[in-house]
Amino acid sequence: MEFVAGKLAVIGAGLMGAGIAQVSAQAGWDVVLRDVTDEALTRGTDGIRASYEKFVAKGKLAAADAEAALGRITATTDLDAVADADVVVEAVFEKIEVKHEIFRALDKIAKDGAVLASNTSAIPITKIAAVTERPEAVVGVHFFSPVPMMQLVELVRGHKTSDAALATARSFAESVGKTCIVVNRDVAGFVTTRLISALVVEAAKLYESGVATAEDIDLACRLGFGHAMGPLATTDLTGVDILVNATGNIYAETQDEKFAPPELMRRMVDAGDIGRKSGQGFYTY
Ligand SMILES: NC(=O)c1ccc[n+]([C@@H]2O[C@H](COP(=O)([O-])OP(=O)(O)OC[C@H]3O[C@@H](n4cnc5c(N)ncnc54)[C@H](O)[C@@H]3O)[C@@H](O)[C@H]2O)c1
Repeated sequence: MEFVAGKLAVIGAGLMGAGIAQVSAQAGWDVVLRDVTDEALTRGTDGIRASYEKFVAKGKLAAADAEAALGRITATTDLDAVADADVVVEAVFEKIEVKHEIFRALDKIAKDGAVLASNTSAIPITKIAAVTERPEAVVGVHFFSPVPMMQLVELVRGHKTSDAALATARSFAESVGKTCIVVNRDVAGFVTTRLISALVVEAAKLYESGVATAEDIDLACRLGFGHAMGPLATTDLTGVDILVNATGNIYAETQDEKFAPPELMRRMVDAGDIGRKSGQGFYTY
């Protein structure tokens, strides 16, 4: 289906929300970007401008197109500004209470027929949708970081997500240049976080028990399987704390031992060795 870019609202101007606003405005969507403070909005829009400038400097985007895209983004703290959006993407903190507050409000404000999407990495869409009177309109639209570079969007069906909402979410994601996979049941961790969690847990266990060095485990995945990055380097980049949290949540729901965060990773978090952002993880930076 050819999708004509329409009106998009993005809730949360952090790393992900700003990225989603950036690629959408570039694809012709009129974007309302909403956050709770002017500081967060300024940070978000400054980041978008800087990223467009990099693409212009590399010759990948015309300066006039970057200017036009910026002109399509309206930053606001007023949630009522989302009222005429065709698609709303929520990208606030990964906390169910915060998401519930947003979806309760969206249910009152968003127009009939709007698709209400969440960029959650792991919270079941059914749980988010449960506070609305229109759970059929709620769908997971999981982008990856950094949004302008990463090709994948994981579309996630909640228990009551309609085919129409899923189709609109797919059209939106494809219109901004992404390729989608569909997760038919909103199991903990969806498909992507489940796969990376299983791999990271096993890699950490092999390392922890002295079977191989971190370098060799990562090399095995890079040279043996063609992965762009090994699992331990990926963990350092994403944050050991983030992975312990993600695998721990999947373990809590499934009770499947293969997702239980290894002791070493839990101790690394206790010690503050959480990867690149702290200077020390499986590797030293
Ligand atoms: N960071 C990643 O790599 C990544 C990847 C995929 C998905 N996600 C998911 O995307 C979502 C956002 O993550 P992020 O990394 O952009 O977080 P972030 O902390 O960078 O940004 C969150 C933003 O939400 C804003 N916010 C909080 N409450 C709000 C409210 N009530 N209304 C409007 N804005 C509000 C905050 O001010 C902040 O600017 C999370 O659900 C996260 O799990 C993150």
